[in-house]
Amino acid sequence: MSIRTLDDLLAEGVSGRRVLVRADLNVPLDKQSGAITDHNSASAPQGGTPDGVRIADDGRIRAVLPTLGALVEAGAKVVVCSHLGRPKGAPDPQFSLGPVAGRLGELLGAPVHFATDTVGESARSTVAGLADGQVALLENLRFNAGETSKDEAERGAFADQLAAFGDAYVDDAFGAVHRKHASVYDVPARLPHVAGRLVLREVEVLSKLTGDPERPYVVVLGGSKVSDKLAVIEALLPTVDRLLIGGGMCFTFLKAQGLEVGTSLLEKDMVETCRNLLERADGKILLPVDVVVADAFAPDAAHDTVRVDGIPSHRLGLDIGPETVAGFAAALSQAKTIFWNGPMGVFEMAAFAAGTRGVAEAITKADAFSVVGGGDSAAAVRALGLDESSFGHISTGGGASLEYLEGKTLPGIAALEN
Ligand code: 3PG
Ligand code: MG
Repeated sequence: MSIRTLDDLLAEGVSGRRVLVRADLNVPLDKQSGAITDHNSASAPQGGTPDGVRIADDGRIRAVLPTLGALVEAGAKVVVCSHLGRPKGAPDPQFSLGPVAGRLGELLGAPVHFATDTVGESARSTVAGLADGQVALLENLRFNAGETSKDEAERGAFADQLAAFGDAYVDDAFGAVHRKHASVYDVPARLPHVAGRLVLREVEVLSKLTGDPERPYVVVLGGSKVSDKLAVIEALLPTVDRLLIGGGMCFTFLKAQGLEVGTSLLEKDMVETCRNLLERADGKILLPVDVVVADAFAPDAAHDTVRVDGIPSHRLGLDIGPETVAGFAAALSQAKTIFWNGPMGVFEMAAFAAGTRGVAEAITKADAFSVVGGGDSAAAVRALGLDESSFGHISTGGGASLEYLEGKTLPGIAALEN
């Protein structure tokens, strides 16, 4: 790989230099009791999170600490930028990175200077005021239309403004490398650029899966939509030994087998595609044999376990059943390599968490190299209190890890190679 790394940059010496770091600090937020406060207030982030917003899972913040810590230690002026959520190219307080600045500061053990805009007056003065070894965080990149624009010139103009804040650029935003966005794709064309520790580790691990994985290679896919996973299923089918499918997307496959799925999530226009995949899968695809069905999508809804050929017409499936978990666990226990993306059920509700927990536990017990891909699956691992260290690798990228496994060229990686 012809990519320069953070170590190369550190070897050159970064003391007193401004280093612009693209991070993926797109963490899930819990908004409590409708109390969305004004996160744009400059004073808010310095000491903890503003009222009404809690970071539900800070895994992505922790994941960039090795890179940020190394730069701080080396005396760089560290300018961090990130997106959060999908604001529409203009400031939107509910997507402020203010709460993230507070948490990042706690984890770094040093204050993070928060700029209340991305490339405006606040950003300019915040960056200009940094002493060696200090860290600034710019406000959400996507508050600017240029970040995600399809127009090269508009993206380029925004990239020029961002690039002005750095003497060098570090990409540590693995979760965003599949986006052709200004901060990911255009800034590295304007500054000396290197891959951060997280991006390097992710690519190193995922390339083992696309290379020559030790067999059996078992992939578990869940989540709600088949349409999101279609490309990766197509790409993986020839390579994997077994493909286990749970989560909301399993119902479209069950329908394709001629079963009735009640009011479960169903992508009608994907049924034919699923039928076709099943025909070509040569028995590699394993579907649920039982599911937990409920009266409603609610934590306290009445629910039962039924066989997949007995889903009542008025009920919806919210988790895989215990017999399915046992079958999936048996397949996983044989595996030497495992990739898992997407929860098996609505794990956020205790009544529908057993499937995801059961599969996750089976993965940790297998004598295999296991990779968890995706923001949701990684959050599930932590939310269920599972030991993160019992997985080989927990990727911070959802779409990014899937597109990597599809064999696509990722704009953020390609930009680092040039
Ligand atoms: C993610 O959460 O998958 C990454 O942060 C990328 O976010 P996006 O899908 O909104 O581009
Ligand atoms: Mg995503």
